[in-house]
Amino acid sequence: MKDSHGRTIDYMRISITDRCNLRCKYCMPEELPSIPHEKILRFEEILHLCRLAGELGIHKFKVTGGEPLVRKNCLKFLKDLKELPATEQVTLTTNGTLLSEYLPELKRIGLDGINISLDTLNEQTFEQITGRPEFSKVMDAIIACQASGIRTKVNSVLLQDVNKDEFLQLVCLARTYQVDVRFIEIMPIGFGQQFKGCSRQELLNILSETYPDHVQVHEHRGNGPATYIHLPGFKGCIGFIDAIHGKFCDSCNRVRLTSDGILKLCLYYQNGIDLRSMLRAGDPDSSIRAAMEQAIFRKPSEHQFHLSALEGPAEERRMSQIGG
Ligand code: 5AD
Ligand code: SF4
Repeated sequence: MKDSHGRTIDYMRISITDRCNLRCKYCMPEELPSIPHEKILRFEEILHLCRLAGELGIHKFKVTGGEPLVRKNCLKFLKDLKELPATEQVTLTTNGTLLSEYLPELKRIGLDGINISLDTLNEQTFEQITGRPEFSKVMDAIIACQASGIRTKVNSVLLQDVNKDEFLQLVCLARTYQVDVRFIEIMPIGFGQQFKGCSRQELLNILSETYPDHVQVHEHRGNGPATYIHLPGFKGCIGFIDAIHGKFCDSCNRVRLTSDGILKLCLYYQNGIDLRSMLRAGDPDSSIRAAMEQAIFRKPSEHQFHLSALEGPAEERRMSQIGG
């Protein structure tokens, strides 16, 4: 469907849990209270909402967390989501720690793509950033995933004074393996506010010194706002997602469903509509669908991350509660 700004909204990110088995410094650095179980949507409830979303023209779904694979029966849910009548595409974002064991099954159900987060190629730095010694599991999962033929993307968040110096090494993953490597600018949400990220321009400048003959890619390579370049001899492309410096709200195609059943229209704004209450009050599908439709129609035109948090009704939840 179209929103009031003429944008086609056909993509929903679904956070199925706010829990995670890593403790990334900029996301969930310590044990924090999780959303209580009874507030988390059951898989049947999520599927119910996805079916209604499908009727509104939302045909592509990205399943996120926290870490989605820590939730029991995640695979069955992905399969059911894939089989809904209006579903065209189901993809997954994961930290990769649990991925290897699920890969054959993910391949079998026809998952359309997997994004794996990896910020460093150094074991010690990995443990420093994520609080857990899981580097080799994630690296092995990336290698196995691309070898399985499932479209694989690696997502890196680069931070000044932490892992920026690894930029060119991370880029080279796309030379060795059939993966796109994307650099995501850190957003000032939750613990992310304490870090200084790297802008696309800064990274492009570094890249141009080593690879002066890189070319801009014009074809679309996914649902998202990434812009891509290709380097000669590389198997995959290099992407940049810079929500702050390169605001892409004009072409935003997405809404988000949080694990506790809030439909969020923009990452920046705290508010959303409480679909869980409607579902659990037994509201008819027609009312829930109409509420979704009205909310999507009124999706805000743009984020205001450049304002200080004091000036707007900015998001106060953490990234792990929203799903990125
Ligand atoms: N800004 C940008 N990306 C973030 N992630 C977590 N917190 C932030 C933030 N504040 C990313 C992780 C992972 C995905 C789940 O979200 O690096 O790639
Ligand atoms: Fe977990 Fe991803 Fe957050 Fe790291 S960034 S704590 S892997 S949800």
